[in-house]
Amino acid sequence: MTNGSKHDSRLTGETSRRVLKRDPNPHLFRPITFRSVTAKNRIMLSPMCQYSSNDGIPNDWHFAHLAARAAGGAGIVFTEAVHTEPAGRITPNCLGLWNDEQQDRLSRIAEFVNGQDAVAGIQLGHAGRKASVGRPWDGSSPIPIEEGGWNTVAPSAQAYSSDWREPVALTKSGIESQLDMLANASKRARNAGFQALELHAAHGYLVHQFLSPLSNFRDDDYGGSFENRIRFLIESIEAVRSEWPSNLPLFIRLSVTEWVEGGWSIEDSVRLSKILKEEGSIDLIDCSSGGNNPRQSIPIHPGYQIPLAATVRSEAQIPTGAVGLINSPDLAESIVANGDADIVILGRALLADPVWPQRAANHLKAKNFEWPIQYERSNIY
Ligand SMILES: Cc1cc2nc3c(=O)[nH]c(=O)nc-3n(C[C@H](O)[C@H](O)[C@H](O)COP(=O)(O)O)c2cc1C
Repeated sequence: MTNGSKHDSRLTGETSRRVLKRDPNPHLFRPITFRSVTAKNRIMLSPMCQYSSNDGIPNDWHFAHLAARAAGGAGIVFTEAVHTEPAGRITPNCLGLWNDEQQDRLSRIAEFVNGQDAVAGIQLGHAGRKASVGRPWDGSSPIPIEEGGWNTVAPSAQAYSSDWREPVALTKSGIESQLDMLANASKRARNAGFQALELHAAHGYLVHQFLSPLSNFRDDDYGGSFENRIRFLIESIEAVRSEWPSNLPLFIRLSVTEWVEGGWSIEDSVRLSKILKEEGSIDLIDCSSGGNNPRQSIPIHPGYQIPLAATVRSEAQIPTGAVGLINSPDLAESIVANGDADIVILGRALLADPVWPQRAANHLKAKNFEWPIQYERSNIY
């Protein structure tokens, strides 16, 4: 008998034992492991700016917001976009990670989130030419320098649209200092105790601006061909990984398509994802879309970005997260069950209802969902 036939499942009954041992819980509530980190379920709180800090420093609002979603049962809880330098903030009230006070406040959040048996994640980003705007409730428009705004940077001196500030094109040394600041923020993220890091390369912010032929008009090594336009992203990943431990997961958020003819497309994202898969630093592609061009035309409906996650996953054979108007537990469950994505990323559903995972666990009849002990008597659904 060869080794092969010895392990033939038809002879040993291994398959039937495996079937019996299969996790009886809904797919949404089955654990998932990235490197040394295991999330107890497939629900991730999407990064969402709170526009509520001063000088980039998290405060009680950020703590309460993220703590509530961790206690509510999300397996992975991401901070909002945390910026690598003051000029990289979207608004003057966005978070940053370039000094000790910011790191210290973030570490309190990470400690609490991790203590709820959730994975504390941090999104790092730089807004590039889309920096220096007002908060949504102040109109989201560019802030003049005399009113506290600042000069912005980008791959090219091309404004997002005619009423936005024209950015300064980054020089080669400007690019290098961006990468240094990203590496520093990654080191601080590690020191603050986060277990997962996401590089924000979507929504028309700095990394995305380099990717897109609609915002990158450089004629050096960082512009022109596909290989040149992805260079800043590849170097950004290297910068993160130079300080972010190899046993911790690194996600990347892409705008998989810009929804504009002639812009970054799903084919580009699949091509990039294959390169990232081969390179091996990235553990999951968070599949979002849009944000880099005012001409975008987005076909918004429930789950509208799921096909993007499914295509990247099947074509590049890399784990993905699906995000965007996924509000019902049944839709979320179907995404994981169908193999469209490995995790489900919720934004507004979790803003509206921090205990969405608890309701979903009840609806989907998950057996492994644990309420925080302090809230046990509230399991009344
Ligand atoms: C208030 C708010 C703030 C957001 N801030 C961020 C952010 O910091 N980083 C990011 O990648 N996406 C951000 N987004 C996008 C969300 O993460 C998410 O991708 C989007 O809302 C779609 O998911 P949803 O339909 O579940 O809300 C934000 C969305 C909202 C509503």
